[in-house]
Amino acid sequence: MASLDLASLSDRLIAFRRDLHQHPELGWKEERTCRKIADELERLGISYRRIEGSTGIIADIPGPEGVPAVALRADIDALPVHEETDLEFASTNDGVMHACGHDGHTSMVIGAAELLLAEEALPAPVRLIFQPAEEVGDGALKIIEHGGLDNVGIIFGGHIDRHYETGKLIVTEGVVNASTDTFYITVNGKGGHAARPHETVDAVVVGSLMVMALQTMVSREVNPAHPSVVTVGKFVAGTASNVIAGRCHMEGTIRTQDEEVREHLKKSLIRIGSSVGQLHGANVTVELESGLPALINSKDGVELARQAAIEVVGAENVGEMPVANMGGEDFAFYIKHVPGCYIRFGAQIDGKEYPAHSSSFVFDENALLIGSRYFRQIALNAGAALGRGDRWQI
Ligand code: NI
Repeated sequence: MASLDLASLSDRLIAFRRDLHQHPELGWKEERTCRKIADELERLGISYRRIEGSTGIIADIPGPEGVPAVALRADIDALPVHEETDLEFASTNDGVMHACGHDGHTSMVIGAAELLLAEEALPAPVRLIFQPAEEVGDGALKIIEHGGLDNVGIIFGGHIDRHYETGKLIVTEGVVNASTDTFYITVNGKGGHAARPHETVDAVVVGSLMVMALQTMVSREVNPAHPSVVTVGKFVAGTASNVIAGRCHMEGTIRTQDEEVREHLKKSLIRIGSSVGQLHGANVTVELESGLPALINSKDGVELARQAAIEVVGAENVGEMPVANMGGEDFAFYIKHVPGCYIRFGAQIDGKEYPAHSSSFVFDENALLIGSRYFRQIALNAGAALGRGDRWQI
């Protein structure tokens, strides 16, 4: 690392991140982003391949033959959010914004590659994964389908997090993100005159009862020691104040941290949906769309990540999340196949406490170099263990 000037690397990472920030692209549309990543990889002399028929890039820094690779993953997509920051490099793509910091993650992995190239020799090959469509929720599956995890022994990733000060690295054992499943419920009643309810089956009333009944799934059917959420986020019904609605449509999400709870809640949703309908003579359809599994860091992955984090920022700056995030993260798909760990990079700016996914989201760019140094360290440490013949369970 000595041969690299860290201050100028940090400047380059910030400049690269700002360029991505100014030109954000939605999931599956990251064409320019991929060109920019490819330019960087070419500048560094790293071989890469584009995902055929899609966006996303898989690159490899070679290491000793026969040793599995350490994978470093960055997500590269932006969100359909209209940016409202006062940044001089704010989005020029109207209605699209890097509101989750994926521009930063991409920059961190590029920086890690540059740092790793300055090493005399690597203990194991390093796979760089620039994953599309994390926000859409299935970009990781595309990477896996295209061999992104072939010959990978362990994988690491992380997320910029404004809850923590810059310089903090948050390494948490066990569950760090929830599973996410989406549901769609349609109540078909019988519309009619607002003054003659007895001639109708009021879909608003049946739908409202259903919303309340769904709240008892978590409160009465799930062990309180297992955090879970059922939210109806969309409720559409009716056309006028003097018309009883014949139809009501609801959409919502189920979040859990445990596969058993997840399966239970899906079954309950169908049971409660159809019984509330039956109770009031309405026809109810319930559709479920499977989303992400919970992201559960593997034990060995956590140990390696914690050690690398301590080496980069010192033990006093390595923390744990007090509770898991009930949001989803498609890194979970990788962890189903290979061991690994997903951490949080502190990147707080005082007085700018805007949450990720908000139009005012900003983060401290000093976190970029720290992220790159963490990724370098974990690639070296986990690589050395793989080189010694260590193999881990998921
Ligand atoms: Ni994100």
